[in-house]
Amino acid sequence: MATPSPALLSELKRTHHCSALRIGNLAEEVVLAGWVANRRDHGGRIFIDLRDREGLTQVVFGPDVAEQAHRLAGELRSEFCIGVVGKVVSRVASGGQPNPRLATGEIEVEATRLEIFSRAETPPFPIEDDIDVNEQLRLKYRYLDLRRPALQKNFLLRSRLCQAIRSYFHAHRFVELETPFMVKYTPGGARNFLVPSRLNPGRFYALAESPQIFKQLFMVAGFERYFQIVRCFRDEDLRLDRQPEFTQIDVEMSFVVEEDVYGLMEGLVAATWQEVLGVELRLPFPRIPYDVAMARYGVDKPDLRFELPLGEVTEEVKGSGFRVFDSVVDSGGIVKALRISKGEAQDALSRSFLDSLTEFVKPTGAKGVAFARLLDDGNWQAPFAKAFSEAARTRVNTKLGAQPGDVLLFVADKAKVANVAMGQLRLHLGQKLGLIQPGWRFAWVTDFPMFEQNEQGGWVAAHHPFTSPQPEDLPYLSVANGRVRARAYDLVLNGNEIAGGSIRIHQREVQQRVFEALGLSIDDLRAKFGFLLDAFKYGPPPHGGIAFGLDRLAMLLCGADSLRDVVAFPKTQKGTDLMTDAPTEVAPSQLDELAIRVKV
Ligand code: AMO
Ligand code: AMP
Repeated sequence: MATPSPALLSELKRTHHCSALRIGNLAEEVVLAGWVANRRDHGGRIFIDLRDREGLTQVVFGPDVAEQAHRLAGELRSEFCIGVVGKVVSRVASGGQPNPRLATGEIEVEATRLEIFSRAETPPFPIEDDIDVNEQLRLKYRYLDLRRPALQKNFLLRSRLCQAIRSYFHAHRFVELETPFMVKYTPGGARNFLVPSRLNPGRFYALAESPQIFKQLFMVAGFERYFQIVRCFRDEDLRLDRQPEFTQIDVEMSFVVEEDVYGLMEGLVAATWQEVLGVELRLPFPRIPYDVAMARYGVDKPDLRFELPLGEVTEEVKGSGFRVFDSVVDSGGIVKALRISKGEAQDALSRSFLDSLTEFVKPTGAKGVAFARLLDDGNWQAPFAKAFSEAARTRVNTKLGAQPGDVLLFVADKAKVANVAMGQLRLHLGQKLGLIQPGWRFAWVTDFPMFEQNEQGGWVAAHHPFTSPQPEDLPYLSVANGRVRARAYDLVLNGNEIAGGSIRIHQREVQQRVFEALGLSIDDLRAKFGFLLDAFKYGPPPHGGIAFGLDRLAMLLCGADSLRDVVAFPKTQKGTDLMTDAPTEVAPSQLDELAIRVKV
């Protein structure tokens, strides 16, 4: 008969966690609690590995030591939750073998008392690392998945990360403030989740995609330095590094320019790496202008753990006679190139691998990859070699610094497509050729364009419309265009965007000009951002800020490759929660109350 309050816990206190005991604890009486990781019977003695969040301790039940505990231990099965009282003994002295893979491997606990707190059904998968279980099942039983040591380790790390972040900000005079989740819908940026208002039928809140406007209002209010570890909501297409609700380390500061933000945030990153991993980072981080990043790496979040820079040969290929390049260049496109030098593990570059690259780049919209190997006589061995004029070939070889034996890859397309395709090709080859060096390679990407074209060809704010244009580009601001640069920056780490921010506009007239450049009418403006423009009438300080993706930081620090390994209860790619079954339908009466009719 189970008692509501376990006697063992009422009478005794837990003395150690399951990774604590060493040979120095010999002969101590200890109280442990946790889960049965496994059970073995050997000649009348029962051995279990007892697991808690810190680790494992072997517990042994012998009929000669405590008959009652031994009898009860016969009932133990995996994942029973138990408490044990016993004496620390040496494994060797009791005739066993030490386990060098376990922190507690030299000792075991000889149990004198056992209490079963609760029994477990056979779990749907073993609670161990490196199990081959489909993710759907793991997500359905997420609380069991989370019991696995590898995931426990991730979440303990994530917790230390948050603690390090908070101490850093408090030490640097930041104020921790909260902002609403249910906010006014404003257009632009990510698609918002909407929340119907029962008290105002037909009206909706948006779930905040970030605290952007509120943190700027904190600056108007005079808080000077704000931070918050805050949940954000975005109804986006999901990927391994994107969740519909995710956590930002959100920051805003008054009386700063870019360098102040970089300095304080580099300090934050260095402090957390030191605290969490014991790793000392070299500061400052390099800065790479956006244009340079696109030209050299084809992306605005370059992976700097290896070189393999991209080159451009649009000018050099002119008049080559190769129709694929000619037609692209004639219609305003570019030709990007990649040179893999002879030394760089070229054995991997078989003809069939090179052919496969065309399929590899197709999802980016690129039509193919042309390749050539430079021969000793300066000629190219390439499917299109005959169609390529000698003069153009020499120009390309010179531009790329090609040496005999080097392999050259080309993608010709509109600039955007060619960059994306070549950026991905660079990463693919970095992996394939084993060029990626271990380590932490941070960089600030700076001087982003202020506006970018969306898929329909319209101009939108590349960051958000509160980002300050660069002062020297103000003359070009009358309409949105590709020339105006923003005082915006991203922090990238090993090819991931881990933070983004900007110096904001603090003059009302400039803000209005940006809105106008985006084609927002004055009426539109008043309806959507009136409160912000109003606030800017009352002495707003110069200010700027940034937000880090906390989940991404945690993912990288843990060495995980999906956010699902660092988000406790993540959503699937379809935005569902397999454990609770959300989202679900709701009763017609609930919809009536909200004045909503469902069409499907
Ligand atoms: P931004 O939109 O760049 O900036 O977001 C900041 C950082 O948040 C992370 N991130 C995400 N992480 C997981 N899942 C997602 N769906 C997701 N979306 C973004 C990224 C990104 O760098 N208000 C501005 C910041 C500012 O200007 O101060 C903002 O939200 O790591
Ligand atoms: P095709 O004549 O279409 O068979 O193309 C000849 C070679 O050029 C193939 O290896 C294609 O992958 C490659 N190719 C086709 N289009 C492009 C392009 N836009 N840029 C670079 N290579 C291309």
